[in-house]
Amino acid sequence: MTNLNKQSKQKILITGANGFFGTRFIKTWGQRYEILGTDVGPKAKVALDITDREAVFSAFAEFQPDFVIHAAAIAVTDFCNLHPKAAHKVNVGGALNIGEACKEHNGRLVFISTEQVFNGNAEPGPYKESDTPEPDTVYGQNKLEAEGKLKALLEDQLWILRFTWLFGLPERDTSINPNVVWNALQAQLAGKKMVERTNEYRGLTYVHELIDQFPKVFDLPFGLYHTGAKNDLSRYQIARLILTGFGQEDRLDELLDHTEAPQDRDIRLDTSLLAANGVVFTESKDAIMKCLKEFGF
Ligand SMILES: NC(=O)c1ccc[n+]([C@@H]2O[C@H](COP(=O)([O-])OP(=O)(O)OC[C@H]3O[C@@H](n4cnc5c(N)ncnc54)[C@H](OP(=O)(O)O)[C@@H]3O)[C@@H](O)[C@H]2O)c1
Repeated sequence: MTNLNKQSKQKILITGANGFFGTRFIKTWGQRYEILGTDVGPKAKVALDITDREAVFSAFAEFQPDFVIHAAAIAVTDFCNLHPKAAHKVNVGGALNIGEACKEHNGRLVFISTEQVFNGNAEPGPYKESDTPEPDTVYGQNKLEAEGKLKALLEDQLWILRFTWLFGLPERDTSINPNVVWNALQAQLAGKKMVERTNEYRGLTYVHELIDQFPKVFDLPFGLYHTGAKNDLSRYQIARLILTGFGQEDRLDELLDHTEAPQDRDIRLDTSLLAANGVVFTESKDAIMKCLKEFGF
């Protein structure tokens, strides 16, 4: 019986398995799917540098994945701007290696892209899939270039998900990245006053809400989807909400200040196409409260 169950499990190869998204994905879905999680660095359980084409092809040949979630990237905007060659090698070259291996081995690919493809657009969001991105950072440009190359390569086996900014808190055996909720908690612990913008708007998505419904992606028509929660609040309003959620409403003036950037920034995504296909997210302000509640605040 155990063997039969094992045989019938679908196989997922996920790159970036040690990352913020990957660690939580594997913890959530490791029983339901047979998952090969790959990454680089000393913590990688299965080492696979995505820039090593030969190694990528041999991992695919051995594992034969049904689905591939390509989450590996150099996702730190400043690092990418400072090291454009290294960023391109991983974010574009690595993605292409994964795409070509998917083509060779018939793996259906989920490529994780980002709202940052719109970070140079003059007109404000929320942006639809039909809007033309104008990225003005290396990271955003890399992701858009990879999207285009993968689309040209994989006609009918590719989903591209452009994520909004994910948030969550540290958990056992997972990694953590800077995000609105964790940043606010760290600021409180460090006794540092937060200064947040009144004219910056981004979608903010609870990482677990995304991961919990991720298998629905495998049933979507192939194509491009803006992915995540709706948010009508500025970064400043969100910070107030989070600090209040942490029980700090009496200390808001002491803990938080506001500023206004010279230019409005609105890189929110219109996620109604995904919602029409049954993948629905709680609005950011409520999702943040849900996260805080889950962690006992
Ligand atoms: N988190 C968000 O809010 C967000 C929003 C929009 C889009 N995304 C996208 O979603 C995906 C997952 O995000 P995340 O937050 O989980 O990112 P993450 O925590 O930075 O994880 C990415 C992983 O990829 C690994 N990696 C880097 N270079 C590699 C290489 N040459 N070969 C194999 N692995 C390599 C990184 O290892 P090192 O740490 O050792 O470099 C890291 O473990 C990324 O593609 C990101 O661009 C994330």
